[in-house]
Amino acid sequence: MKLLVCGGAGFIGSTFVRERLLERGDEVTVYDKLTYAGREENLSEVADRDGFRFVKGAIEDAEALAAVLDEQRPDAILNFAAETHVDRSIAEPDAFVKTHALGTYVLLEAARERELRYLHVSTDEVYGSIEEGTFTEHSPLAPSSPYSATKAGADLLVLSYFHTYGLPVTICRGSNNYGPYQYPEKLIPLMILNALHGDGLPVYGDGMQVRNWIHARDFARAIGHVLEHGEVGEVYNAGGPDEEPNMRVVERIVELTGASPSQIEHVTDRPGHDRRYSLSSEKVRALGWEPEVRFEQGLADTVAWYRDNEQWWAPIRSGEYRAYYERQYGRALG
Ligand code: NAD
Ligand code: TYD
Repeated sequence: MKLLVCGGAGFIGSTFVRERLLERGDEVTVYDKLTYAGREENLSEVADRDGFRFVKGAIEDAEALAAVLDEQRPDAILNFAAETHVDRSIAEPDAFVKTHALGTYVLLEAARERELRYLHVSTDEVYGSIEEGTFTEHSPLAPSSPYSATKAGADLLVLSYFHTYGLPVTICRGSNNYGPYQYPEKLIPLMILNALHGDGLPVYGDGMQVRNWIHARDFARAIGHVLEHGEVGEVYNAGGPDEEPNMRVVERIVELTGASPSQIEHVTDRPGHDRRYSLSSEKVRALGWEPEVRFEQGLADTVAWYRDNEQWWAPIRSGEYRAYYERQYGRALG
């Protein structure tokens, strides 16, 4: 297939692009604004491949997008492009509204004009928090943060283009992803790098919030299944095989890195913090997908990857991230 992958220089997008180019032989153009989270280094393994192309641009820039689409003529647009960190959405929601609302609208219009297949990547956070049980695709949307609320808005706009204009859209909602190339503002890479550096490990509140972890390679494969076998106009959830309270994740990282348990610190909780996420994946499993990576092994492999790939994270830890960390945690990295 010939794919336009928006946001393909980020964590999950680049995982998807690697898999599609190296294992499936698709042609892929990555279209990405390269925000603080987007890095061309994430695509270095495929940069020299036939069929790969990178174009820098924003999804909300209709002209630049039209130029890429008219030149590349893809079979489908996949949209991974987003602002993705809940804490940043609480501090500064502006970019979240622009990218998720306006950006998604511009992409949908471009897809409609050219009658293109459109796959939208979304999150379980649109359903809000669930104390017991599991969200299905029929659960009501009840997002809590500016991140999840703007993602939910985008999902509804995507579905409206199916109902109103017959645009062939699908949505794939994932649970919390982890794995190599994740920007270290998120729980797992933040804790791994802080553990390796002897820095504090800032656990929000009591640390008993539960997340449903999925390895990014499994989520990327689920998105591929939805692209190939999903029914248009439908939403597919892809949740990981394991649920863990944050404290247990942090304690395991301490063990795997040989850090000291005394590095763990309970800090002020996140406002509006969702207590638990849990996602049923029956519908995408019926398409033939299932997760392959259990959390215990995936976490150990992820710790090993960060340990072995200092050249990837060293520039991040010495750049914009330091200032962000100071603003967010009220202290400097060691
Ligand atoms: P990320 O922050 O690592 O990457 C986002 C990418 O989008 C970056 O390359 C960035 O440069 C690009 N981007 C941002 N705004 C853009 C714009 N306006 N125009 C073009 N490019 C833009 O994010 P991620 O973790 O890889 O998430 C990818 C998608 O998966 C997002 O839609 C996110 O909501 C969804 N998702 C993430 C998780 C998770 O745990 N990380 C879980 C479920 C769903
Ligand atoms: P995060 O990786 O930000 O993902 P999300 O908020 O999208 O689930 O956070 C995962 C969990 O870890 C969440 O319950 C918040 C918590 N957390 C901390 O306790 N400390 C931290 O420094 C961070 C970044 C997250």
